[in-house]
Amino acid sequence: MQDLVLSGVKPTNILHIGNYIGALKQWHEIQHSHPCLFFIADLHAITVPQDPKVLRENNLKIAAMYLAAGIDPKRSHIFIQSDVREHAELGWILGTIAKMGEMERMTQYKDKAKKGSENAGVGLFTYPVLMAADILLYDTTAVPVGEDQVQHLELTRVLARRFNETFGETFKVPQALIQKVGARIMGLDDPTIKMSKSASSVANYIAFTDEPDVIRKKFAKAVTDSEARVAYDIEAKPAVSNLMTIYHHATGKMMPEIEKEFAGKGYGDFKSAVAEAVIVMLAPIQAKMKTYEQDPGELMKILDAGRDFAREMAESKMKIVREKVGLGR
Ligand code: ADP
Ligand code: TRP
Repeated sequence: MQDLVLSGVKPTNILHIGNYIGALKQWHEIQHSHPCLFFIADLHAITVPQDPKVLRENNLKIAAMYLAAGIDPKRSHIFIQSDVREHAELGWILGTIAKMGEMERMTQYKDKAKKGSENAGVGLFTYPVLMAADILLYDTTAVPVGEDQVQHLELTRVLARRFNETFGETFKVPQALIQKVGARIMGLDDPTIKMSKSASSVANYIAFTDEPDVIRKKFAKAVTDSEARVAYDIEAKPAVSNLMTIYHHATGKMMPEIEKEFAGKGYGDFKSAVAEAVIVMLAPIQAKMKTYEQDPGELMKILDAGRDFAREMAESKMKIVREKVGLGR
């Protein structure tokens, strides 16, 4: 079988342009050359408290955003993680071969739990094991994600190899697919932290649903530096380089070209150009989102079909896994 691509996003909030540039844009491109599964990671979302009603709404909103961002349901399968029970089952089994030490080294857990690990949920700690299950269940070979997920992919590879060594060849060892530029879009209000749905201020990100005027205001307020020089240098000029990366993805222009375009101009001009480019990038996505919101029946059909496809694959893989481990009779 051809290499299979799989990825997912937690339905914890509306998507932002960091998710788009780091992940969804790659999904959109890769579906033309590979069979793809894209899921909504609701079991992952509940590792931090969620309002049940809002979570269900978000599952559908994120599905609509996948489609709006160009995921084609005729090519790719879209499903909700909790619709396929085998994710949780394989997550449990892999948890029995994962080691405390390697889990404790996961930086995302360390960051999220640093306010008090005694009170952090156990699910937040074991989250990367569930992520490994999501991936290994389908014999995935490539996982397009942003840079923050690389460590989780490393763990997935370790668990796949360990399982194979212990119980015999069962899982493929997958690879992360990371963008060269844009794997880590930083916050507009603070270039030292990544753009994130869970940021404390909405000034941190541009959401898929932001109206043009909101986008203009957010870029106008975005942090820059005191130099008034548009130049790409991640170390010395992280804020400006971040805006350039966003502009590059919105327009397709390369860094030297962007530097030339704004030579001798102030940051005001540059920031409004970035804002306009992002407005244009998001316009077709926003229009498409509305059509799916108005036709939830179509969305449900797509999710039903995705679920049925994923279930069939997951069920046959888990039959093998149970036998290898000696579960059942
Ligand atoms: P968030 O951190 O905003 O909650 P998720 O963790 O759900 O986002 O990430 C969904 C996908 O988007 C993942 O593949 C992740 O690597 C990618 N991603 C998230 N934030 C960024 C970012 N700031 N830059 C690039 N990619 C990102
Ligand atoms: N952990 C990912 C994130 O926070 C979401 C995710 C869960 C995922 N399972 C996955 C991504 C499997 C890729 C493959 O963004």
